[in-house]
Amino acid sequence: MTAHAFGVDIGGSGVKGAPVDVSTGELVGERVRIPTPQPATPRAVAKVVGQIIEQVAERTGDDAIENLAEMPVGITVPAIVSHGVTRSAANIDKKWIDAPAEEIFADVLGRPVTILNDADAAGYAEVYYGAAQGESGLVIVTTLGTGIGSALVYHGQLIPNIELGHLEIDGFDAEKRAAASVRTKEDLSWKAYTKRLQRFYSKVEFLFSPDLFVVGGGISRHSDKFLPQLDLRARIVPAQLFNQAGIVGAARFAHDAPAG
Ligand code: BGC
Repeated sequence: MTAHAFGVDIGGSGVKGAPVDVSTGELVGERVRIPTPQPATPRAVAKVVGQIIEQVAERTGDDAIENLAEMPVGITVPAIVSHGVTRSAANIDKKWIDAPAEEIFADVLGRPVTILNDADAAGYAEVYYGAAQGESGLVIVTTLGTGIGSALVYHGQLIPNIELGHLEIDGFDAEKRAAASVRTKEDLSWKAYTKRLQRFYSKVEFLFSPDLFVVGGGISRHSDKFLPQLDLRARIVPAQLFNQAGIVGAARFAHDAPAG
């Protein structure tokens, strides 16, 4: 039987959601995006997630999706998530710090949900459907965006919340030097930006000795500008799911580890 789950990706500018066929990682209904509310408090974002699910239900024909109301729901947040509680807020509203996010969302949506870190969701998606599929060793998936997200996967098992974007490198929080947003903000050439990435990935490689790095985030579309220049022992490849990784990974995670 085909299993479906609903994935939601909470980002700084938009909240996106869609139902996913977890056997293939493909979307099985409309993908709906609503701008992230400001301030992006947990309760305000939860209401937007409710609207997304409603809109998907309206736009998707009944026969295209099975039991939207019954599907497990997985939701990503750009924060540490421990037992349903969000513990950090580097690039989102500070109200997420120590918020019982799973409880708040379940209350607003009237159904149980599974919440996980955004990069962990992307890592999970790459392992099941993307660039790290079939990889048996140690995989580190990094997302280069507003911040740097990271996921550690060993023998297909996700070890959550590793937060490598906050490694201190040369006296800086790594993401303050090497996130994709910093390249734009500081107007860095690809060469200058690649140098910063080299510092970051060399440090991570020294600490973890992964077999494979997967590089995600919007910038992975331009991976030819920096990946071939990076000198590492591990293989380093672009992500394959691009901006769908959060939705797909969250859906699969919720299916594998249903809430409640
Ligand atoms: C946060 C992580 C998140 C990453 C990407 C970092 O600033 O600390 O939890 O995964 O940004 O959004």
